[in-house]
Amino acid sequence: MDPKKPIIALDFPNQEEVFAFLDQFQGQQLNVKVGMELFYAGGTAFLNALQARGHDIFLDLKLHDIPNTVERAMAILASTGVAMVNVHAAGGKEMMQAALRGLEAGSTGKRPMLISVTQLTSTSTEQMNEEQGIPGEVLGSVLRYAKLTKAAGLDGVVCSPLEAAAIKDACGEDFQTITPGIRLATSIADDQKRIMTPSQAAQSGSDYIVVGRPITQADNSKVTYDQITTDWSGQ
Ligand code: C5P
Repeated sequence: MDPKKPIIALDFPNQEEVFAFLDQFQGQQLNVKVGMELFYAGGTAFLNALQARGHDIFLDLKLHDIPNTVERAMAILASTGVAMVNVHAAGGKEMMQAALRGLEAGSTGKRPMLISVTQLTSTSTEQMNEEQGIPGEVLGSVLRYAKLTKAAGLDGVVCSPLEAAAIKDACGEDFQTITPGIRLATSIADDQKRIMTPSQAAQSGSDYIVVGRPITQADNSKVTYDQITTDWSGQ
C-alpha cells in the first residue's frame, strides 16, 4: 500500500454507491478502507471486485477473539490479498502474535500489514476508567497498548494524529501510525473532534492517513482527493 496516497474510507451503505463513487477515479489506483458493514454484506467477492479495479485494500475488521480463532481467520483474510488488516490490542500479545502467524501462513505474496486498534476514539476517559477498569488518561492506555503491539511484532497502530508523535517516541520511528480524523482547513469536521490537516498529520508523524467524508461527500470528490493527496505528500 503506497503511503503517499490517502486511504479512502469507503463508508457507503451498499456496493452500488461504492462503485458509482469509484467510477469518478477511472484508471487511478487508490488505497481504500473497507469496514465491517460492506464486508459482511459483500464478502470476498466484493474485495475481489475492488482488486480487479487495481485498488489496495485496508480491511478494517478489528478482530478480537482467542488466539487460535484469530490465527485461523487471519490466514483466510491473508489469502484474499488485502494489503492491511487489524486487531484490537486488548486481545493481548499472544492473540496479536497468533494473528501475525496466521497472516504469514495464509499469504501467497507479501504479508498484509498488521496494525492494532488501541483505545477506540469513541471511548471516553470516564468509560475507560469505570467500564474497562483502566485508571488514568486515555493516552496512557494508548501508549501501553502501542508498546504491547510493538512487542508482539506488529507493524503499527491506528491512532489520532495528535497521538502519533508520542507513539513514535515510545515505539520508534519505524512503528507505523495510521491516522483518521483528517480534514482540509476548508472542510467541515463532521463528528470528528480532534482533527488535523494532511500536512499537519505528516509533520506530526503520521505514516498513512485515512480520509472518508471530506472525499466521499465532496461536491467534486476527485478534485478534493487530489487536494488532500497534494497536501499530504507535499507535492
Ligand atoms: O469520514 P471520516 O474522514 O471521519 O472517516 C474516518 C474513517 O476512519 C471512518 O471509517 C472511521 O470509522 C474511521 N476511524 C476513525 N477513528 C478511529 C478509527 C477509525 O475515524 N479511531
